[in-house]
Amino acid sequence: HNSYRIVMIGAGGVGKSSLTVRFVVGRFVEKYDPTIEDAYRIQMSIDGEVANLDIVDTAGPEEYSALRDQYIKLAAGFIVVYSVTSAHSCQAAAKLRDVILKIKGLSVEDGSCYDYPIILVGNKCDLASERTVTFEEGQAIANRCSHFTKNFFEVSARTDTNVSEIFCEMVRQIDTV
Ligand code: GTP
Ligand code: MG
Repeated sequence: HNSYRIVMIGAGGVGKSSLTVRFVVGRFVEKYDPTIEDAYRIQMSIDGEVANLDIVDTAGPEEYSALRDQYIKLAAGFIVVYSVTSAHSCQAAAKLRDVILKIKGLSVEDGSCYDYPIILVGNKCDLASERTVTFEEGQAIANRCSHFTKNFFEVSARTDTNVSEIFCEMVRQIDTV
């Protein structure tokens, strides 16, 4: 009851772990330590209700895709992460979102994907001079499969910009489905 299983997914090095650690522990880790799979549990109060978040922080690289299908099946919602400094990671995010929809049996054709909680997140927005993906490009990808108003955020784990917002919004979206 009031338990939310949220999966962080995206290419390697985009900041999935950094966003999770920033949210759960309140710290930023400079050192890059690739993930295999980590799970965090955190209790938060949102809109006056207690919510237990189970956050699964997954591996970027493809080699772990057997694990991937399993956690996709079990998830209630997804935070799909790319880095605004990597156009490649943005394309990877769009592809991963399509994989999620396929495994969940949702599609654009019948509109079943539009109310499903997937939030697209462009991380590392503090690195303004290294940006290669615009806000509009990210927003356009998110709009393709989600009718939620807040389906896209640019964030920074480093400067703690919009980090708690994505988790709060995810809980709200899961509550509507
Ligand atoms: P995998 O587990 O390998 O898939 O990577 P990941 O997506 O979990 O990335 P991780 O959080 O490990 O971050 C990779 C590197 O990017 C680390 O060196 C972080 O310090 C850095 N990083 C993460 N978020 C940000 C951010 O918002 N801004 C900046 N400047 N660097 C960041
Ligand atoms: Mg990681």
